[in-house]
Amino acid sequence: MPTLPWKRAIVVGASSGMGEVIARRLAASGCKTALIARRESELNALRDALNAENEAPIAFAYPHDVAHTHEVNALFARITQDLGGLDLIVYASGVMPPVGPQEYDIEKDALMIEVNVTGAVAWLNEAAARFGKAKSGTIVGISSVAGDRGRTTGPVYGASKAFLNTYLEALRNRVARHGVKVVTVKPGPVKTPMTQGLGKLPFIISADEAADTILAAAALGVHTVYVPQKWRTIMAVIRAIPSPIFRYLNI
Ligand SMILES: NC(=O)c1ccc[n+]([C@@H]2O[C@H](COP(=O)([O-])OP(=O)(O)OC[C@H]3O[C@@H](n4cnc5c(N)ncnc54)[C@H](OP(=O)(O)O)[C@@H]3O)[C@@H](O)[C@H]2O)c1
Repeated sequence: MPTLPWKRAIVVGASSGMGEVIARRLAASGCKTALIARRESELNALRDALNAENEAPIAFAYPHDVAHTHEVNALFARITQDLGGLDLIVYASGVMPPVGPQEYDIEKDALMIEVNVTGAVAWLNEAAARFGKAKSGTIVGISSVAGDRGRTTGPVYGASKAFLNTYLEALRNRVARHGVKVVTVKPGPVKTPMTQGLGKLPFIISADEAADTILAAAALGVHTVYVPQKWRTIMAVIRAIPSPIFRYLNI
């Protein structure tokens, strides 16, 4: 794991799972870290635990629902002022409600679009505008291998991650010329509250391993990182399967 280069960071979706571990790693490296999510008690407990390990406050909690996009501009400005600037933003917020094979539920689908797509755009637009002007900064978006193919198991979850992939690529193409890094993260299954109760998942890894891989890739400015790396090969094969065969295989 290379030394983490950032001094001030925002982690959206820091109350559990990969976002929480990423926030822990950042604070442990001496990076002032803003913690964002809805669950205030989890955020405050994490903030207090991280600050107990430091003489000066290193972590700051900002309870927020990413569906409230009208709050983002002012909150982003407040946080960057509190941190004294910004070097890194990680968008880890995401939801994947269970969806049955014959279920078409607009409420569940709209929620996934709100959190996985609209919230990401609201926060990462702010970061791209700021970093583009500053001519430095790193944007990390946590997508998924699920965005690489249209699978039967979660049409809107997969599509929300496909949106994120294209959006992050476009941001990269806008801001790379200004020295800004944009990292697309595509994890396979990771042991977090999101995957609890889903049964045996292939090649599942811990949130610790995932966070270390993500931060190492972000520090190096890798464009797209599969987590763990073996998913790059697996998904290359899966993407190469012709559509009619993919439909027949139903994987
Ligand atoms: N676990 C996997 O196998 C896996 C695989 C591929 C990709 N991913 C992606 O990885 C990211 C992190 O997920 P995870 O596995 O670490 O799951 P997790 O522990 O459930 O974390 C999800 C995070 O999203 C936040 N969140 C959900 N709704 C929100 C809202 N309305 N406003 C603000 N924050 C919200 C949650 O905080 P609050 O509930 O406190 O708001 C939590 O911090 C997600 O984007 C997920 O799609 C996960």
